Amino acid sequence: MTTGHSANRTAHTAVVGLQWGDEGKGKIVDLLTSEHDVIVRYNGGANAGHTVQVGDERYALHLIPSGILYGDKTCVIGNGVVVDPEKLLQEIDALRTRGIRVGDNLRISDRAHVVMPYHKEQDAALEEYLGSKTAHAQGNLAIGTTRRGIGPAYADKIRRSTAIRVGDLLDADYLRSRLHVICTLRTAELEALGVRTAPLDPDALATRYAEFGERLRPHVDDSVYALHDAMRAGKRILFEGANASLLDIDHGTFPYVTSSNCSTLGIPSGTGVPGSAIGRVLGIMKAYSTRVGAGPFPTELANELGNQIRERGREYGTTTGRPRRCGWLDLVAVRYSVMVCGATGIACTLLDVLSGFEEIKLCVGYRLPNGTTTDRFIPDAHRLEGVTPIYETMPGWSAEIRDASDRSTLPQAAQRYLARIEEITGVPVEVVSLGPERTQTLVDGRRAVALATA
Ligand code: GDP
Ligand code: IMO
Ligand code: MG
Repeated sequence: MTTGHSANRTAHTAVVGLQWGDEGKGKIVDLLTSEHDVIVRYNGGANAGHTVQVGDERYALHLIPSGILYGDKTCVIGNGVVVDPEKLLQEIDALRTRGIRVGDNLRISDRAHVVMPYHKEQDAALEEYLGSKTAHAQGNLAIGTTRRGIGPAYADKIRRSTAIRVGDLLDADYLRSRLHVICTLRTAELEALGVRTAPLDPDALATRYAEFGERLRPHVDDSVYALHDAMRAGKRILFEGANASLLDIDHGTFPYVTSSNCSTLGIPSGTGVPGSAIGRVLGIMKAYSTRVGAGPFPTELANELGNQIRERGREYGTTTGRPRRCGWLDLVAVRYSVMVCGATGIACTLLDVLSGFEEIKLCVGYRLPNGTTTDRFIPDAHRLEGVTPIYETMPGWSAEIRDASDRSTLPQAAQRYLARIEEITGVPVEVVSLGPERTQTLVDGRRAVALATA
């Protein structure tokens, strides 16, 4: 099967996760940043944790685009992001302390929505309620969120009348008046969940968040015009997806998803740039699968093999430190994400983690409870939970491959594995990542040293 997409590598580029997150998007964005001028986040918030490793230095970016490490690139937090100002300011301070320039190179949309403390309170309270077996008969229904207030902040965006946007933080009187109404409603909701006895204090919140607004003021922009101005001036844009396609609110494993369109379909609404402007979509895929939090995971290995992948891949959350669930590569899921995202190519990351396995399995179909089979993904948790994966088994390889300099020098079994991924997804594996560092990467088959000079 082919998707029919082909890349225009001189146009704007999107980087997007094809699984359940943590595919190594930060590393690949960092790698591609040198070829672009503007790096844009279009979705999610501080639930994301994007790691970039440069030599011995390891950076974990949550709200700021990974391109910030270059110093001379413009980084934009688009209108589709939900911004926790407190976390953002901490991230800015931490980067500056490490000598990274964060000044007029960081732009924040005035229309991005704000994550307030009560959103985090609501997120945690709902998770506790859903997870508590005494609260309801159905057992544990918690999503396993990052508790960063993402869902409640997006819910307020959709509800409209109880939302606060970054631009509102710049007008203290307006902010205060809105918070008076919002806090009355929100206190009642939190009391109903049994987690708040004292009312929220709108004046204290208004003062604190107006102060955050003043600190952020130099960065706040109409990012839609700014992006279109940049495009007219011939600048190249790199869109940095957060979370991942299978966590997309519309196209993921609902309801075990996040609250934004994290597939590339979120780019137009989350930035104001039409989808037709994007020429290249690089889908990022681990050589196996992981998932953090609850939800169906057909190829999960809840056994020693899974533990082995977790330890070799250091699969612990960048944002929450939680151990990630691990399993074999699910190509039914990846092929679906390639289709939904319009991926023109794949970056296969963490291939080095699979060295040492005698055999490796690839999921190429699902058996349904009624005995029939399908090669189509089922983006609905309740129905996906019932499937059994159909595997192809391939020989593994024993050699460590982190230092390979050319795809043709990888062990034959690793080359065959990559070729099979290309056959089944219908798109080329353009990038192969063999370790966390910039230099441990093959681009178009060769070591990517030239690309990685920042
Ligand atoms: P992101 O959220 O998609 O940016 O991914 P994370 O940063 O949360 O998780 C990916 C983890 O894998 C990070 O610790 C990276 O440093 C690491 N990593 C990225 N690519 C590779 C690779 O090819 N091999 C290995 N061993 N680690 C990698
Ligand atoms: P990056 O960008 C992995 C998961 C959470 C939870 C679900 C909903 O680093 O790949 P939320 O806090 O968003 O309401 O949680 O989504 N999740 C992620 N898992 N990587 C991420 O981001 C994630 N962002 C959200 O674990 O299951
Ligand atoms: Mg991550």
